[in-house]
Amino acid sequence: MAYLALMGLQLAASPVAGGGTGSYVVTGDAIMAPLVGGKGDPARGAALISDRQRSLCTLCHSGPFPDSHLHGTLAPDLTGVGARLSEGQIRLRVVDMKRLAPNTIMPSYYRVAEEQGRRVATVWRGKPILTGADIEDIVAYLTTLKG
Ligand code: HEC
Repeated sequence: MAYLALMGLQLAASPVAGGGTGSYVVTGDAIMAPLVGGKGDPARGAALISDRQRSLCTLCHSGPFPDSHLHGTLAPDLTGVGARLSEGQIRLRVVDMKRLAPNTIMPSYYRVAEEQGRRVATVWRGKPILTGADIEDIVAYLTTLKG
């Protein structure tokens, strides 16, 4: 816990560039401000999560999404994530899970993939995985998953 608090302080002190796709400020374990202006569209976010070409979320995560028989079990089930985590906490986890769990297999979505180093799957290399607007749509959807 002490370690986490320390890491939070350190992160809060330094606004970080988002790997060329934009900049954002990490406060503790969250990004409080939306990455782009305007409200995210939860319906589009839901569609993106189930998009097995682009986001690949359901390769690892299960949740209240269509085609549950195809969902992976490598990651926490996202059912109720909107009750467990705040909007800002969800935003940071989708933007850059590696800040919180350096060895995670979850891609840092708000980056050009090759900047992530060796751990990135070739399918993502050289491409920004999701745009700020994509991530806001996903965050808008995940915050609705309260139960
Ligand atoms: C390659 C596997 C993988 C993919 C793809 C993936 N994740 Fe994750 N995700 C994880 C793992 C593993 C964790 C748990 C953190 C850890 O310890 O590594 C996680 C954690 C999370 C969390 C925090 C959950 C909690 O209850 O604490 C959220 C939110 C999340 N992912 C959302 C997403 C979204 C949205 C996508 C798609 C845009 C996605 N993930 C794609 C593996 C993945």
